[in-house]
Amino acid sequence: MKLIILGPPGAGKGTQAEKIVEKYNVVHISTGDIFRANLKGNTPLGIKAKEYMDKGLLVPDDLTVEMVKDRLAQDDVKANGYMLDGFPRTLAQAGALDQMLSEQSDKLDCALAITVDYKLLTERIVGRRLCKCGASYHVSFNPPAKEGICDKCGAELYQRDDDKEETVVTRLEEYDEKTLPLINYYKDKGILREVNGQKDIAEVTADIYAVLDDYR
Ligand code: AP5
Ligand code: MG
Ligand code: ZN
Repeated sequence: MKLIILGPPGAGKGTQAEKIVEKYNVVHISTGDIFRANLKGNTPLGIKAKEYMDKGLLVPDDLTVEMVKDRLAQDDVKANGYMLDGFPRTLAQAGALDQMLSEQSDKLDCALAITVDYKLLTERIVGRRLCKCGASYHVSFNPPAKEGICDKCGAELYQRDDDKEETVVTRLEEYDEKTLPLINYYKDKGILREVNGQKDIAEVTADIYAVLDDYR
């Protein structure tokens, strides 16, 4: 199965990606996570990306596309397929992905869009807490058993640098202007599937499973 997961910042892409991996065993590729790993490692790519990420802006297409190309060339994506989380995010990136796939006589099965009213997103993002093991929580909507501590590994939780209210405004504007057109792009291709992301996390997961079972 090859899919992309679309939705505004805070829609629940990362949260649901974890559940999708559990059931369908696809490789989870989050461009945001790869940028953050580069940032942490102080690589040239990380240093360039930081300029944009700190402001809530999209990283330029050429850097992003190159990074995804490298990632999709690795062997692990060949077995059970993959799920791109946070890519593509512009029409140019979507075109580049189509090109990469067609070069291998391949195509996407599904573009899964999680829809959430923008009014709800700021609270979701500002309350998000993360663990270095990859687990993700929310102070009110998905709290760990012990405040500030990861249920899975016991490490201390942290907040993402761009999860400040003022940065969230820019991230939402970027989404609206540059990423929202992808909804129609994939609708026109006939592969868009939409899921209401405003229900409880577990209900959203159940709805997503009902959609993705079609592609098994
Ligand atoms: P990225 O890391 O992709 O961030 P994002 O798109 O802003 O999305 P988030 O990770 O904030 O949200 P999410 O949908 O994953 O929500 P989550 O599941 O965590 O990108 C970061 C930056 O990297 C970009 O700004 C850009 O600079 C750069 N970048 C990345 N990709 C790029 C690209 N392709 N091109 C250019 N630049 C790129 O959930 C959020 C919170 O809500 C959590 O606390 C969660 O517990 C809670 N929650 C989830 N679901 C529910 C629910 N149903 N009910 C209640 N709470 C919920
Ligand atoms: Mg995410
Ligand atoms: Zn952990």
